[in-house]
Amino acid sequence: MANEIDTVAYDVVDRIAWVRFNRPDKRNAMSPTLNRAMMEVLDDLEFRDDVGVLVLTGEGAAWTAGMDLKEYFRETESEGIKGVRKSQRESYGWWRRLRWYQKPTIAMVNGWCFGGGYGPLFACDLAFAADEAKFGLSEINWGILPGGGATKVAVELLPFRKAMYHALTGEPIDGRTAADWGLVNESLPLAALKGRVTEVAKVLLDKNPVALKATKDAVRRVGVMTYDEAEDYLVRAQEAANSFDNDGRKEGIRQFIDAKSYRPGLGAYDRHRQTR
Ligand code: ACO
Repeated sequence: MANEIDTVAYDVVDRIAWVRFNRPDKRNAMSPTLNRAMMEVLDDLEFRDDVGVLVLTGEGAAWTAGMDLKEYFRETESEGIKGVRKSQRESYGWWRRLRWYQKPTIAMVNGWCFGGGYGPLFACDLAFAADEAKFGLSEINWGILPGGGATKVAVELLPFRKAMYHALTGEPIDGRTAADWGLVNESLPLAALKGRVTEVAKVLLDKNPVALKATKDAVRRVGVMTYDEAEDYLVRAQEAANSFDNDGRKEGIRQFIDAKSYRPGLGAYDRHRQTR
């Protein structure tokens, strides 16, 4: 049996967990083995004190070439509905886990990103791509619809006409077009990608972690709520966050109003300093 963790690699450096799809020979296609390994790695990292931000990237030329057509589709289908549902649970399971992850997450799309790859792409809170990367809903090219949430991701992130064109033609777009369309935050040359992602991760590492988790959940949740529902949800969410970290918020106010040591409009308060 394959060593499951071999399909996913990771290191933690200066509070950033760099998690990598690690099947470069198969363009990091997501097999059931990889999906199980990824869930294990996410589990291991989620509540570690030495991890503040998680970056998901790929080894080699791909971010991920989507679902493994042989191992995820052909081989599980040969086991009937039981095999199909099991492999769906495993992949959708870690994407869902990532959507609601305790730490902020960044997709660093270094290369190919197809089909099922849109699940983890959307699951990450932020996304940065190499200009050289290629994104595509290639499902139509081999005869299925963009399932596993991929159609939903396209419709969430793209305007209707672009989502429809992208899904119906299966034409790949590069990183710059992906940024222009809003599929990722920014695109930049591959050689500069890791530097930029590290810079953004460091900005996040300076923020209050309780506020980060409350904020990322709020951004995902309020989209389907009416204004009044959202207003109510945000009141409750802030009160819940206060019960985990009331002092952080008070310290933030104190450093601005009393110590005058920073300006909240321009940056974060110093979480390692007590001015009381
Ligand atoms: N599933 C299974 N195997 C794959 C996949 C995949 N999604 N993608 C690549 N591979 C394998 C190839 O079969 C090949 O294996 P082999 O060396 O044992 O023959 C190896 O990875 C390298 O693939 P190449 O096609 O030779 O690599 P190349 O760099 O020329 O092309 C590209 C890369 C464009 C990503 C191409 O591999 C490709 O089109 N892959 C499929 C992309 C796709 O449509 N994915 C499915 C999306 S739909 C969904 O996820 C539900």
